[in-house]
Amino acid sequence: MEITVRAAEPTETEKIVALAGRALGWTAGEPNEALFRWKHEQNPFGASPQWVAVAGDRLAGFRTMLRWEFLDASGAVVRAARPVDTATDPEFQGRGIFKKLTMLAVDELTEAGTEFIFNTPNDQSRPGYLKMGWSEAGRVPIAARPTGLRSALRMASARTAAEKWSRASSAGRPAPEIFADDAVAAELQPLDAGTDPGFRTNRTPAYYRWRYGLPELHYRAVTLGRDPREGTAIFRLRGRGGAVEATVADLLLPDAGALAPLLKALRRAVDADYLLLAGPGQLRRGLLPIPGQGPLLTTRPLASLAPPLSRMHLSLADIELF
Ligand SMILES: CC(C)(COP(=O)(O)OP(=O)(O)OC[C@H]1O[C@@H](n2cnc3c(N)ncnc32)[C@H](O)[C@@H]1OP(=O)(O)O)[C@@H](O)C(=O)NCCC(=O)NCCS
Repeated sequence: MEITVRAAEPTETEKIVALAGRALGWTAGEPNEALFRWKHEQNPFGASPQWVAVAGDRLAGFRTMLRWEFLDASGAVVRAARPVDTATDPEFQGRGIFKKLTMLAVDELTEAGTEFIFNTPNDQSRPGYLKMGWSEAGRVPIAARPTGLRSALRMASARTAAEKWSRASSAGRPAPEIFADDAVAAELQPLDAGTDPGFRTNRTPAYYRWRYGLPELHYRAVTLGRDPREGTAIFRLRGRGGAVEATVADLLLPDAGALAPLLKALRRAVDADYLLLAGPGQLRRGLLPIPGQGPLLTTRPLASLAPPLSRMHLSLADIELF
């Protein structure tokens, strides 16, 4: 049957989620549709453009591109895109559908002025991306800190992929509470990255409310004082092997002096075996580096070149889930 590729219709989302579920092995009863719509319809950087491949009235494949915004060293907004969520129906795989949909997306996003693409593809899709103009930018540096001695032993056993879904936690307070006030949220930023501010996600109040607002993800906040501007850590709990991990999505700090007391408060508060975080070197000082384990980032130029990984100040909030 002839395969046609075109922009997806809003009415096709249920079919797309069903195909994604079949191709990615999603388990029924999990909030996958809520997560999909949260990513692709509720993103404050803009709804995701989506493309489909159809054979007659059959959905043979789909491709989405999540919109993202960075601030560059001058503070200017840089529009990027992330190839998050694509699948070809197993019956149609190996016929170039992923390639066709992805190159159509590349052309349309470049024409629209999107600057570059970044993602952490899985083993199935990475070979294809590398043939379509992507290149490996390197592994995002991660580091960990056990919360106690016995926890350190459990952490050592955590050598498998983390669970996709969060575990509920009562530590700290619900993260959305922290970002309810625009004036407060606007002041909450990661540590200044010193001489080279590089590229960092455009953390607006709307971004925070979206990024930490999906109830199914159970994001929590631990703050140094009543006022979150004194220092705030955002995390969620996940199982990994026999351990419970506190995935530290963001550390929002007024200055470097707040880092050590905030990490101490977090270690004391979380019901987890270890903290896991990513970010510029100074954030990882005093933590155990985990060489070779961070997600492998790939990038592709569109309307301009992609920055090197060394200039992208990525926290786990920028990487996990997408
Ligand atoms: C990954 C996936 C989308 C590829 O779809 P597809 O339509 O079969 O891919 P294409 O036919 O367009 O292949 C494009 C290239 O990707 C590579 N490729 C495709 N499937 C691959 C696989 N399973 N393993 C390794 N490389 C693969 C091939 O090298 C191919 O290059 P070629 O043109 O030289 O043959 C499909 O296997 C799939 O749906 N997987 C499950 C969902 C998934 O993992 N999605 C990605 C994460 S969101």
